[in-house]
Amino acid sequence: MKKIDDLLSQMDQEPVSLLPTPFYRMNSLSKLLECNIYIKRDDLTGFAFGGNKTRKFDFLIADALKKGCDTIIGIGANQSNFCRILACIGAKYGLTVHLILNGKEPKNPTGNLLIDHLLDATIYHIDTIDPEERMKKALEVKNHLEYNGKNIYFLPPGGSTSIGTLGYIAGWGELMDDFERHQIVVDKVIHASSSAGTQAGLVAGQAITGWSGEIIGMSVDVPKDELEKNVYNLAQSAGDFLNIQIPESIINVDENYIGKGYGIRTAGCEEAVELFAKNEGIFLDYVYTGKAAHGLIDYCRSGKITPDETVVFIHTGGNIELFE
Ligand SMILES: Cc1ncc(COP(=O)(O)O)c(C=O)c1O
Repeated sequence: MKKIDDLLSQMDQEPVSLLPTPFYRMNSLSKLLECNIYIKRDDLTGFAFGGNKTRKFDFLIADALKKGCDTIIGIGANQSNFCRILACIGAKYGLTVHLILNGKEPKNPTGNLLIDHLLDATIYHIDTIDPEERMKKALEVKNHLEYNGKNIYFLPPGGSTSIGTLGYIAGWGELMDDFERHQIVVDKVIHASSSAGTQAGLVAGQAITGWSGEIIGMSVDVPKDELEKNVYNLAQSAGDFLNIQIPESIINVDENYIGKGYGIRTAGCEEAVELFAKNEGIFLDYVYTGKAAHGLIDYCRSGKITPDETVVFIHTGGNIELFE
């Protein structure tokens, strides 16, 4: 979409993602759930097995290279999708990667962690889920590396900085082009939300384009009020680069599909993974997209999405987790 492309042309970009990603109607699931459901396949962004994080890196790596950084530090869980993509970014652009990961070091790394190892990222396992402990370790690593003369690009969980948020402003522009190409009027967009960067970019895009539908971030771990605040702050900080204001009223988080917490499976999430696989040949994951799809399915069944409405589900990736 030209308006968004023009705004973003003032920002540095490095095309990591292979875009645009596919967009189409999920005919079998639409029939089964008696709703009109489209999917944006951001699991197919191409780089390093794809997913929403590559869109953030389209801007983050451009920023890191511009600042002359030689080292990137990333933070996440042992099976972090973000850290997997970060390890691949480091390999491709010649930057050293240090990852601070929650969770014990397993005997045999699998899934995302297997890729981190394959790419020779330096990994520090922190045997706690306490984010403060993890940040303490990350800052310790940063100070040590800086003391040794390294120029660090330090990334918070999910790469959710104001620069990273630009990735989903661009993603929103792409979605608007999809809607136009398919000549559809979309009422709702649903996706998994956690560190706020994806949703912040989408709502900033919505603010720029004045789209009148509803974007709903299905939280996979963070309580609604906290995540809505995080989304607002991040969206506005990215908006400041582009001189746009974000109305708080367009930020909607649903916390009803989290279950017992991050990474803990729910029955609804398991059903969603099965329904997508068996009806559409699309593979979700149990941490992020499965929980978001549970929300989508529940909205269809409960009438929160009606048969005359059109809904878009953004598949944000993460299905490497199936091989954990
Ligand atoms: C597969 C997947 N989907 C969704 C999300 C949530 O995106 P964000 O952290 O930008 O809210 C993540 C974040 O780690 C993810 O890995």
